[in-house]
Amino acid sequence: MAFTFFFRDRETLGLIEEHVIARLRGRRYMDIWDAGCAHGPEPYSLAILLRENMGEFLFRNVRIYATDINGNFGETIRRGTYPDEQVRRVPADLLRRYFVAADEPRHFVVAEPIRRAVHFSEHDLTSLEPIRDGLALILCKNVLLHLAESQRCDVIKMFHDALAPGGFLAMEQTQEMPEEVEPLFVRVTNRGQLFRREER
Ligand SMILES: C[S@@+](CC[C@H](N)C(=O)[O-])C[C@H]1O[C@@H](n2cnc3c(N)ncnc32)[C@H](O)[C@@H]1O
Repeated sequence: MAFTFFFRDRETLGLIEEHVIARLRGRRYMDIWDAGCAHGPEPYSLAILLRENMGEFLFRNVRIYATDINGNFGETIRRGTYPDEQVRRVPADLLRRYFVAADEPRHFVVAEPIRRAVHFSEHDLTSLEPIRDGLALILCKNVLLHLAESQRCDVIKMFHDALAPGGFLAMEQTQEMPEEVEPLFVRVTNRGQLFRREER
């Protein structure tokens, strides 16, 4: 499983905080797909951001479907326990509120309400099968760079179809939207790779 850590990409989390959360609030259910989630720090970081910004009541409607081609999620995911080097970038106040010390030395456990919002499963993006439709947000970071350009376009088209009208797609800062699929989306900001499906 690829190495990653909590709050790895604060820029993208910042864009979601600034542009996406206010729009998600209006939805009854907020179904989110983290595609290529590795062993969990990314979807859990997103869940913490949403819980912070939405409050306990609205956060109950958030479901994050976290998928990876490598479905060997194992004990780390089942118990939500991570070594301290993977939580080092978590701001201190969030670490205090959303993690507890594990029995194992120098390990932390993600708090139960955050774990409850994230559902892990194995999924290969190149199958071009969406995990569901009507999604409010898709986060896909540091995954598409491994695919050929034509496959990347097919996956992005599949993301488009899986989003609800007005739903968002966030990719890493270095992942440009390929020209072929650019007309499907509206660019939300010039500061990063955040896009929105047209409202209709
Ligand atoms: C570099 S990690 C990125 C993890 C996380 N998104 C982040 O940015 O910190 C890339 C992940 O993509 C997954 N991956 C690679 N090809 C995939 C595919 N075809 N479908 C789904 N996941 C894939 C890998 O297993 C790996 O966990």
